[in-house]
Amino acid sequence: MKKIHLLILCTLLSILNACKKEKTIGVITEKAMVVSAREEASKIGSDILQKGGNAYDAMVATHLALAVVYPVAGNIGGGGFMVYRNNDGTKGALDFREKAPITAHKDMYLDSLGNVIENKSTLGAHAVGIPGSVAGVFEVYDKFGSLPFTALIQPAIDLARNGITITKKQANSLNNATERFEKVNTYKTVFDKKWTAGDILKQEALAQTLERIRDFGKDGFYKGKTADLFVKYVTELGGIITHEDLEKYQAIWRTPISFNYKDYTITSMTLPASGGICLAQMLKSIAPYDVSEIEHNSTQYVQLLTEVERRSYADRANYLGDIDFVKVPIDSLTDQKYLNKRMESFSWEKATPSSEVSHGKILGYESDETTHYSIVDQFGNAVAVTTTLNTGYGSKVVVKGAGFILNNEMDDFSSKPGVPNVYGLVGSKANAIAPEKRMLSSMTPTIVEKDGKLKMVIGTPGGSTIITSVLQNILNVVEYDMGMQASVDQPRFHHQWLPDVIRMEPNGFTKQIKSKLESLGYEILERNSLIIGRVDAILVLPNGQLEGGADKRGDDAAVGF
Ligand code: GLY
Repeated sequence: MKKIHLLILCTLLSILNACKKEKTIGVITEKAMVVSAREEASKIGSDILQKGGNAYDAMVATHLALAVVYPVAGNIGGGGFMVYRNNDGTKGALDFREKAPITAHKDMYLDSLGNVIENKSTLGAHAVGIPGSVAGVFEVYDKFGSLPFTALIQPAIDLARNGITITKKQANSLNNATERFEKVNTYKTVFDKKWTAGDILKQEALAQTLERIRDFGKDGFYKGKTADLFVKYVTELGGIITHEDLEKYQAIWRTPISFNYKDYTITSMTLPASGGICLAQMLKSIAPYDVSEIEHNSTQYVQLLTEVERRSYADRANYLGDIDFVKVPIDSLTDQKYLNKRMESFSWEKATPSSEVSHGKILGYESDETTHYSIVDQFGNAVAVTTTLNTGYGSKVVVKGAGFILNNEMDDFSSKPGVPNVYGLVGSKANAIAPEKRMLSSMTPTIVEKDGKLKMVIGTPGGSTIITSVLQNILNVVEYDMGMQASVDQPRFHHQWLPDVIRMEPNGFTKQIKSKLESLGYEILERNSLIIGRVDAILVLPNGQLEGGADKRGDDAAVGF
């Protein structure tokens, strides 16, 4: 009898739990939405839409606002990628990734013995790639913008001048970086102080730089006073960036990677971002399995995704680099037969050690902090942008007199074949440093369609974990029928071939699942502070409304109407 009571109680509890899960619904709007890392930026983008601007106007406004309110990753001193889908179904992509300086060379981070010099590619002026964000913003505006540029940039100028309110998470993040800001810079930057939640951060020098961009366009950044301040300070710190580097920078329109997963069409970023290719590899490797029959986040689910991710990251390390510099066999790498063959060594009975997985054989071929925002406008256009300084506050160089932080994107190159970068990713010749080459990225701004209609706009920060977070969220929605916020809230895990560990978010997976995985030969890394990504996404609901998924791991917010 007691057993029956217990059974009834358990059943009731699981029904209650299921109900609780279903109730996790994000912000719902009728027409338009912006989801970004900060409410102020989402609101600025949404206000632009409400004034009649389109998704591209909102992209410009949101991007520039994030450079002010979210200095850890929002930027004008970094770069990124945009994938878009217009309301007529046309799609495209913009690459505004940083590139290596003209005088960069393959061994620039090695000492005389050929060893990688610690921190040289991550901290200080040597770590900086030529920023692409401002060029990217103007490419987008010139091609698609509809409101006056002044209206799009002014909110960011006002925020920089009048100040932003620091959140608790921001205070912690800034306080953790103070020592490195002090170490790198020759003056006291606006970021150097002990922060508490509620403090106001004013950035007058940044406001003036934004005004030069407002008044002189792209030249307000890559030429004139801003460029002079940039080159002078980087040179003072021993860096190698010149006026010529800045003047030559151009954003590039690219053809995105598009592929089908079951009934869905997925469009994502192509090289130099590895996201689209790896996402295609992973989803196509998963496609032969009846995923919805496997319990979500169960042992089997973690196994399947881990093995798929392991094989894809091994290919990433060997084959992928800047497509303008190296030949990459994209079609072969995403071919269904090739991927099925790669999965032949997968067994439910035991882990495949990464030491036994190399890159696949392609015939005839020789080789965390970022931020993402998603926008859908009232006209049905959709924009997914991932942008970054690379690690939090990039190189920690804050251009003296100009107030913006410079990236440390040079670390995304492979400084030496086989030696891991800050994300533990290894690379090969394909991602070696060369003058004016773009470093390989994991960014994965992605758009999902069903039956020719917009379904989802998604992306995330998280360095090497970006691709696997996007993968899990796509599966959450298309295989497990979750809403956008419920999907974003799910605990996440990640495997990247090397190191051969499954990273898991704390408290997200039961002891039983972890023990079973360990008994199958998987090593698990679960630290208390570890979160994986901050996914900001929009889902088009069957009735045409939009549901935002704003990641609670950060201060992220969805705003719309
Ligand atoms: N900086 C991280 C990435 O681009 O993947």
